[in-house]
Amino acid sequence: MLKLTEYSERHKDGMVRILNNENIAKWLIGPPFPYSEEDALQYIKSCSKKNGTDHSFAVEYEDEFAGGISLHLKNDFSAVTGYYLDEKHWNKGIMTEILTRVADYAFNALNLKRISAYVFEDNIASERLLIKCGFENEGYLRKSHRKGDKYFNTKLFSKVI
Ligand SMILES: CC(C)(COP(=O)(O)OP(=O)(O)OC[C@H]1O[C@@H](n2cnc3c(N)ncnc32)[C@H](O)[C@@H]1OP(=O)(O)O)[C@@H](O)C(=O)NCCC(=O)NCCS
Repeated sequence: MLKLTEYSERHKDGMVRILNNENIAKWLIGPPFPYSEEDALQYIKSCSKKNGTDHSFAVEYEDEFAGGISLHLKNDFSAVTGYYLDEKHWNKGIMTEILTRVADYAFNALNLKRISAYVFEDNIASERLLIKCGFENEGYLRKSHRKGDKYFNTKLFSKVI
């Protein structure tokens, strides 16, 4: 029912639909907004080139693309994660299960010691999710991220083993 898979072209339409939802895009640093088919195809292609630094997974729920999660390795023991879920599936515990699985993969298969996440101020759902998954708040960072000409304060969360 809930699957983590490699990205493929069958996910393109779902990515374009979900990443054009402003309620989702406003919390994300990576994807452009608006999000085009070309953006999706480029991302899918980049995921197929295994570089050892980026591990990205498509989330499928009831056989439909429902979101994405990634790990970006900073070095050989730590990574930053980012994720999003289709708004129609929010608050069902789906990302709690997905992030738990990805953290297990990071610690057990990739042998990492630390996973962190930068959460924009006021993103209560993401903060709550991280706390539920065993992450701890490591502090408040002023103007740590930029989108275009706007700067954002974030909270840094991490899980360490
Ligand atoms: C963050 C996100 C992935 C969470 O996915 P999800 O599957 O809905 O998360 P879960 O259901 O597993 O857990 C969310 C928790 O936040 C809580 N929550 C959601 N909105 C909330 C709010 N406004 N105030 C307080 N708690 C809130 C839920 O109740 C739930 O906690 P609970 O299980 O204790 O009730 C989803 O909201 C999303 O895609 N947001 C937009 C993109 C984004 O913010 N990405 C993260 C960038 S750091």
